[in-house]
Amino acid sequence: MSLLEVTDLRAGYGETRVLDGVSLAVDAGEVVTLVGRNGVGKTTTLRAIVGAITPWAGTVRYDGEDVTGLSPEATVARGIGFVPEERRVFPGLTVTENLSLATHGGSDAGRGRSVESVLDTFEPLDERRDATGQHLSGGEQQMLAIARALVADADLLLLDEPTEGLAPLVVEAVADLVRNANETDGITVLLVEQNVATALELADHAYVLDQGRVVYEGTAADLEAATDVVDRHLGVSID
Ligand SMILES: Nc1ncnc2c1ncn2[C@@H]1O[C@H](COP(=O)(O)OP(=O)(O)OP(=O)(O)O)[C@@H](O)[C@H]1O
Ligand SMILES: [Mg+2]
Repeated sequence: MSLLEVTDLRAGYGETRVLDGVSLAVDAGEVVTLVGRNGVGKTTTLRAIVGAITPWAGTVRYDGEDVTGLSPEATVARGIGFVPEERRVFPGLTVTENLSLATHGGSDAGRGRSVESVLDTFEPLDERRDATGQHLSGGEQQMLAIARALVADADLLLLDEPTEGLAPLVVEAVADLVRNANETDGITVLLVEQNVATALELADHAYVLDQGRVVYEGTAADLEAATDVVDRHLGVSID
């Protein structure tokens, strides 16, 4: 049984259908990536999983439990951490204060990730612990947003384009941090990316979304080799 199982998910906004039956599975301990062009429904998929929007149909199962249509508060409490594209951090609070706020809620699985233990493994952020959110770089804000989810005791991290808009060196730093969270802390990751090269570098499995449907599923290595799929549905070359 997978940690996260999404089956035939349909969702949209108002009358507009965006997800036309999305199914995917993420096993515990894996990094799975969901890639696709602009506007195909990647963010909508994550929103429907965490309950930020209510799916029209289909099911979301997490850790053996049906969580379809639960509120974001309820899914966070079960251990799903969502780091949205906007990387929301409190601009007037320091790194440490931002993290302390996140200790409320989260799963009761008892990993016991304290602010200090997370900062220990997030070195670049530890060096900036007294800086306020507004003075952090884009990369530091992204790290803080991920660190917040870990402090909130997430077992599954849903990351929405964590490397977007970051300089290449910073992309590498964020990628390292995601890899570390997965390998060292055992965090399971569902990673939405437009940066296909980075996504495939990190992921075990990959799903390609096009117009609200999964059009390809395979190992990261399979997708890398499937140049026709990459050309047709992603429109990028991987190098
Ligand atoms: N709040 C909203 N209200 C109405 N339509 C929306 C809303 N959010 C997204 N959409 C539309 O739903 C479709 C899918 O959007 P979504 O954000 O899921 O795509 P995406 O794959 O994440 O794209 P991107 O790569 O640009 O982030 C798009 O056509 C978008 O315009
Ligand atoms: Mg998006």
